[in-house]
Amino acid sequence: MPPVITAEGLYKVFGRRPARGVEALERGRSRAELREDGLTAAVIDASFSVDPGEIFVVMGLSGSGKSTLIRMVNGLLPATAGTLRIGDDVLSDMSAAKIRDVRRRRISMVFQHFALLPHRTVGENAAYGLQVSGMNRSDREARATEALKMVGLEGWGGYRPGDLSGGMQQRVGLARALAADTDVLLMDEAFSALDPLIRRDMQDQLADLQQHLDKTILFITHDLNEAMRLGDRIAMMRDGRIEQIGTSDEILNEPANDYVARFIQDVDRSRVLTASTVMEHPAQTLGSEQGPRTAHKMLRETQNPWLIVLKRDRTPAGVLWEDDVAAAVSDGRDDLPWSTVHEMPVVSHDTPVAELFTLSAQHLSPLVVVDDEGRFAGVVPRVTLLTAAGVGLGENGSDAPADGPDPGAGPGPGPGPEDDPDSPALHSTDALGGDR
Ligand SMILES: Nc1ncnc2c1ncn2[C@@H]1O[C@H](COP(=O)(O)OP(=O)(O)O)[C@@H](O)[C@H]1O
Ligand SMILES: [Mg+2]
Repeated sequence: MPPVITAEGLYKVFGRRPARGVEALERGRSRAELREDGLTAAVIDASFSVDPGEIFVVMGLSGSGKSTLIRMVNGLLPATAGTLRIGDDVLSDMSAAKIRDVRRRRISMVFQHFALLPHRTVGENAAYGLQVSGMNRSDREARATEALKMVGLEGWGGYRPGDLSGGMQQRVGLARALAADTDVLLMDEAFSALDPLIRRDMQDQLADLQQHLDKTILFITHDLNEAMRLGDRIAMMRDGRIEQIGTSDEILNEPANDYVARFIQDVDRSRVLTASTVMEHPAQTLGSEQGPRTAHKMLRETQNPWLIVLKRDRTPAGVLWEDDVAAAVSDGRDDLPWSTVHEMPVVSHDTPVAELFTLSAQHLSPLVVVDDEGRFAGVVPRVTLLTAAGVGLGENGSDAPADGPDPGAGPGPGPGPEDDPDSPALHSTDALGGDR
């Protein structure tokens, strides 16, 4: 599907004769040099696209140009140069009236300090946009009630904003945007003014809503952890320019430059990286209809003392252990010797690595990772987690020793120390292997 929002070579320069500023930038003049001429280059040569159903986060420090960028997307600010499309509509070519029409049909926006109308009820506030666009009373009340329910404010429609906490008021702002039922949602620091706990709550709720609303969301924040939690992809902005666009994994594991690398040093990696980031794909898996002899052969070929068994639909059936398999073969048995001792821990692909540590400590089996349909996706061997912990992925990841390895060189899905038989991490696993 074509992108919903497309920006190509987008510039916004504030000041007198801004087009001059764009030319100067294109000739290689710096942002600081433009400033000397009284021009502010707020957005410089920004190109990106947001796919349908995606949460695309623009992340950057204060003053980096995020709000300017989102206002251009909203059609509130004309670009100095470049093109901006919402679907097939090229905003840069359109009249103000046409832009208003696109905005009304397709775009809603939530700001950091959402101005609720104090003398109207929560319900009327949620329905406000609909009233402005001329919808009749009963329809807009129905929509507003539905939207308030979506944000967890069922039953609050008759209250005044002043009766609500700050977090609840911000939810009304979100409800107003949802009531408009547009396919594009723009959120400029929408959660930034909230207390950390409420904020966390709102992030979860937005992620949840997104699962069934399937809107296209451009989300702006200066908080990297928030960006990592919410973003399908993240654009890292600095001084008006986009330094990198990528998934949180890509940004953590392959920062495009020193600036991004320094920025991500503070991220609690264990909360951001998920099972799918650290999982491995075992060379062999056994079908549940296969027998102990095949299992034995596979075990001899792999380096592991365990073997994952999958059902026909590729959901995991269990884990076999070397000793049990060897015993079954020598006893001439035909059925698979399931372990009576070792339970198979199964985790979802999006489980944060932080939660894997505890699980892994409780089980000798590798963690089995499944996708949304419950099908086998990979394994997280204990050694992987131990290694990960060694490079600052520990439960207190951000407190990793300062003299540890460069976080930019974090553990990716690539070759790990298991390829190296002399790896101390591997030996320490052996030591932890307990009764195995
Ligand atoms: N209307 C304006 N006139 C002049 N300069 C502006 C205007 N709006 C924003 N700026 C400047 O553009 C830069 C980017 O601002 P902004 O987009 O608000 O950044 P952010 O949202 O990332 O904090 C800042 O230097 C800011 O002072
Ligand atoms: Mg801003």
